[in-house]
Amino acid sequence: MTDTHITLVGAGRMGSALAGGWLKAGQAGNIDIVDPSPAEIVQTWADQKQVRLNPEPNPSDVLVVAVKPQVFGQLADEIAARVGPETRVLSIMAGVTLETLEVKLATQNVARAMPNTPGLVGKGVTILCTKPGASSDAIAELTSLLAPLGQVEGPIDQDLLPAATAISGCGPAYGFLLAEVMAAAGAAHGLDPELSMRLARKTVEGAGALMEGSDEEAATLRKNVTSPNGVTQAALEVLMSPEAMPSVFEKAVGAAIARDIALSKETE
Ligand SMILES: NC(=O)c1ccc[n+]([C@@H]2O[C@H](COP(=O)([O-])OP(=O)(O)OC[C@H]3O[C@@H](n4cnc5c(N)ncnc54)[C@H](OP(=O)(O)O)[C@@H]3O)[C@@H](O)[C@H]2O)c1
Repeated sequence: MTDTHITLVGAGRMGSALAGGWLKAGQAGNIDIVDPSPAEIVQTWADQKQVRLNPEPNPSDVLVVAVKPQVFGQLADEIAARVGPETRVLSIMAGVTLETLEVKLATQNVARAMPNTPGLVGKGVTILCTKPGASSDAIAELTSLLAPLGQVEGPIDQDLLPAATAISGCGPAYGFLLAEVMAAAGAAHGLDPELSMRLARKTVEGAGALMEGSDEEAATLRKNVTSPNGVTQAALEVLMSPEAMPSVFEKAVGAAIARDIALSKETE
């Protein structure tokens, strides 16, 4: 990515997490940021001449679109003016298809990525989606652009993006929900609700940290803390029965996929 001229449109939470990572990677001076009401940190970067803020259109090597999908339609012409014949476009907008990007930005040179919220602290996983036949150079460049958000997976074909979104894009909410329902169950069985929430929250955090520091499969980590005929096993027999978590999760992911596909149609 050395000396790549990057334009970032939309420096909100995700956009500024990306730009902060590019600056750390030595891209100061190569970044144009387009955002009509920049956050304080973005203004500071501009004052320090690390980035150019709202410059005149000047086609770059890569243009990253990180505005909300709902405003993309209104902004498309303005963004298209910043796309030159050689500019590679990477969108992190949920639900805006490669085809819509191609039509609205008048270029064939498009890719998408789906990050997730832990990316804001560099602990995310982002799934890259390119057109079939994308070159390995293009994939390497896009992967390195997304690296500030954490791990990058893919590329995958667009038809699998709704399923990937339903796992990693929505997944942080499933983790938070787990802490919520565990805390509520503790309270239902007599624990002080606030204590129950502290226990549940720290347990979910700790399980994540253990998994992060281990090469073992998730199932192995689970088995490692489940003694035969013990207390944990009694709970898991309820949670893992076919009508419980396995089928509930499959249904939930199916609902997320259906909604993602419906939302994509709305932004066409
Ligand atoms: N957050 C996530 O976990 C997540 C996960 C996956 C995908 N995404 C995608 O990432 C994108 C950004 O999400 P986010 O959470 O970073 O949203 P966000 O914080 O709202 O960032 C969007 C930014 O775009 C700016 N903007 C608005 N109008 C603009 C214009 N005319 N020109 C340039 N910039 C403009 C917004 O400014 P104002 O605040 O002043 O309107 C804001 O700074 C979305 O498309 C979302 O679908 C996010």
